Amino acid sequence: MAGVPLEVKRTTTFDLDVEKVVGQVTPETKLLFIANPNNPTGNLVSRQVLIEILERVNCLVVVDECYFELCQTTIADTIDQYPHLVVLRSLSKSFGLAGLRIGYALAQAPVVDYLYRAAQLFPVNRIAIAAALAALEDQAYIQANIQRILAAKERLQQDLTALGLRVLPSQTNFLLVNTQPLNIPSKVLVKALQERNIWVADFGNSPGLDPYYFRTATGTSSENQALLAGLADVISHV
Ligand SMILES: Cc1ncc(COP(=O)(O)O)c(C=O)c1O
Repeated sequence: MAGVPLEVKRTTTFDLDVEKVVGQVTPETKLLFIANPNNPTGNLVSRQVLIEILERVNCLVVVDECYFELCQTTIADTIDQYPHLVVLRSLSKSFGLAGLRIGYALAQAPVVDYLYRAAQLFPVNRIAIAAALAALEDQAYIQANIQRILAAKERLQQDLTALGLRVLPSQTNFLLVNTQPLNIPSKVLVKALQERNIWVADFGNSPGLDPYYFRTATGTSSENQALLAGLADVISHV
């Protein structure tokens, strides 16, 4: 029988409410899934929160760390202590290999054994494996790329703030932007940007969010400039 997903609402600061999370876990619960950092909010929950959850539940706890290389924060060092912890990593983000569909899981051997049994026969193709190994070995390139992304994100955050938007702190390569200070619902802003061939994701009215949020990735310098120019134009016309 298929599982029934239950969502646990985050707090107003997008943190995890440990009591709420633990309170939803019953003997029926198979797995707790936590994206850390979270998407689209971009924030991290603290190590203490994750450890408290790991101490209090018995089901599998999967922590998705697909932005690990950008935030450098992990719970993977506790895998030896927690047989029910699984950490997921991706090569889609910092390594730029999204199209190859490759990532990895870290867990104790019995969990890995179950994963092997449940996985498809050939879950990853050989070209993706070769590219992943090459990418993981080329640390100099990856570190330079990460520094470039972080610097560009910082700059974009400042420029968006200068336009009157509220940018939430982000531990990822994307930014969640609040349009309330301009009193423009994100739906209106996102549509007007699309008319200028600029594409950001509208998160207005998404679960836990009011009508004033959009998310943008950190692009190249020219992409970021296009976004800022588009936004300035839209804001002056609304
Ligand atoms: C938290 C989180 N997990 C996973 C993914 C997807 O990663 P992948 O490309 O490895 O499937 C994303 C992509 O946006 C994400 O934000």
